[in-house]
Amino acid sequence: MDNPNGSDFAQSNARYWDQLAGDYQRATTISVKDFHYGPLLPGDADLGLLPKPLTGKRCLELGCGAAQNSIYLAKNGAEAVAVDISASQLTHARKLVEGHGVSVDLRLADMEALDPSWGTFDLIHSAYGVPFAADPAALIQKCADGLRPGGTLLISMGHPVYAGEWLELDENEQGIFLNSYFHPTPDVREAPETDAAAVSVRAYPVAETVMWVLRSGLTLRALHEPKALPVHDMSREERRKRVPYYSADWAEQVFELQKFPIVFILKAEKHD
Ligand SMILES: C[S@@+](CC[C@H](N)C(=O)[O-])C[C@H]1O[C@@H](n2cnc3c(N)ncnc32)[C@H](O)[C@@H]1O
Repeated sequence: MDNPNGSDFAQSNARYWDQLAGDYQRATTISVKDFHYGPLLPGDADLGLLPKPLTGKRCLELGCGAAQNSIYLAKNGAEAVAVDISASQLTHARKLVEGHGVSVDLRLADMEALDPSWGTFDLIHSAYGVPFAADPAALIQKCADGLRPGGTLLISMGHPVYAGEWLELDENEQGIFLNSYFHPTPDVREAPETDAAAVSVRAYPVAETVMWVLRSGLTLRALHEPKALPVHDMSREERRKRVPYYSADWAEQVFELQKFPIVFILKAEKHD
């Protein structure tokens, strides 16, 4: 886990997220009072997917960003380890961890380098980190190997339906144009300051991802395709309480997010 360099693929992600981290953390409000799964989506207070109790559980977060989910877990008594390939994201994480006076073991590492030297975990989780893996199927297998008996894998993956393009044919006819469910066009993202920092993220069919999980030897416990919450109908206070991941940009897309799931959430367990 000491080698932060990772593959060339991971390094492209690092360059991209190093550029984006400041804007991302400024523009996005991510709660540490709940555990989030994606933009405008209900948190774990609503979905109830986290294993309980959290006290004493050793947890690993992949692609942690500013580590809000790990902070939530640490506040609730878990032993939290959080990795990210972006030093800038981890700088935000360090400040937040210190500000909350909790202990989170933050590590600069390529999540795809996960191996037995990292130890074993009761929970491995990621809110939209795994889609940035070069080989998500292999990463899921590594997660399964790294779980303790009875341990839980809990990940949000990009929903292939949302990989389509939103089209407004006329006032009453709007929807998604998807060129292929099986191989949707990858989301190629460029950092604002340089075209040298670009990443390509693709979504995979739900059944294909479920098969990766089953082949890894884990048992599937839950599969969610959550709908965004009606943030425009909520008071600020209600939104703060019920929407752990919010930004004004995402709020502008709530209509789309209430028609199609942006992520699917998988929960799987390793048998005792
Ligand atoms: C969409 S962000 C999600 C961050 C966080 N989970 C959240 O919900 O705010 C994806 C994160 O994955 C990280 N990442 C991308 N590739 C990675 C890799 N190979 N290893 C570790 N982290 C990676 C990025 O640096 C970024 O912080």
